[in-house]
Amino acid sequence: MKLQNRVALITGGGSGIGRATAVRLAQDGSKIAIADRNPAMGAETVNLIGGDTLFIEADLSKVSETERIVAETVAKFGKLDILVNNAAVMLEKTAVDTTEEDWDRIVNTNLKGTFFCAKYAILQFRKQGTGGNIINMASVNSFFAEGGIAAYCATKGGIAQFTRALAMDHSIEGIRVNCIAPGWIETPMNAKFFSMGPHIREQAAKLHAIGRIGQAEEVANAVAFLVSDEAGFITGSMMTVDGGFSAGLAPAMGIVV
Ligand SMILES: NC(=O)c1ccc[n+]([C@@H]2O[C@H](COP(=O)([O-])OP(=O)(O)OC[C@H]3O[C@@H](n4cnc5c(N)ncnc54)[C@H](O)[C@@H]3O)[C@@H](O)[C@H]2O)c1
Repeated sequence: MKLQNRVALITGGGSGIGRATAVRLAQDGSKIAIADRNPAMGAETVNLIGGDTLFIEADLSKVSETERIVAETVAKFGKLDILVNNAAVMLEKTAVDTTEEDWDRIVNTNLKGTFFCAKYAILQFRKQGTGGNIINMASVNSFFAEGGIAAYCATKGGIAQFTRALAMDHSIEGIRVNCIAPGWIETPMNAKFFSMGPHIREQAAKLHAIGRIGQAEEVANAVAFLVSDEAGFITGSMMTVDGGFSAGLAPAMGIVV
């Protein structure tokens, strides 16, 4: 198995892409710790994986919690090899509708949480002297904006550049850092949009050259590759897992021949 004897910590592992990633990395042989603010969803993921999977209830918008989840993972499994920085929240507001409270909530979760989880993971990798792997969950909204989600787009743009900065500083220590930019994926984060009616799903599908939205497992497959030794020369990169969303505009413009 590709990830035999590895220990992976996945934030936001209670749902969607984080859950699918936890399941996939476990299938590849990794010990799994998941951190999530939702204990019921976290317990569901633990049940799906079985074994001695660790769930840590944490609010990752707080720096002390980002340090604690690394410490608890190491206390349970003795080390850390992989951090999947995946927890995030969506905010459906334009900038003029966004309050300071909204901004703090989304930036503290998506950007500050990602930043400090990486910091404490890297300190642990250094202590071990083993190197390590970090995947940050970016988005096609890291480089293409969509209307009505200004603060979310700002955080995802920041995550992409943070990934490159981390890779510049730490790849020399054997710590590979990459990010993944998914297109629209079928997860609870998008459930609200899809519940507005089938036309939303149809329109979302058309944004992707492949003609459909993605599944969480398809993002998890990309994580599994990037953290494996097969990706040993890949660092500081962004992998799109977007069904061709970012390949061009033709499908969205309805001028496919
Ligand atoms: N679903 C998509 O279409 C899509 C597209 C591009 C990028 N992404 C990104 O993928 C990642 C996962 O998204 P998803 O669609 O699986 O979302 P989701 O809402 O299904 O899962 C997010 C998880 O993060 C947890 N979480 C949120 N805030 C937290 C906090 N402060 N502390 C701890 N846990 C917290 C939630 O409890 C939830 O379990 C996110 O970074 C998201 O921005 C998703």
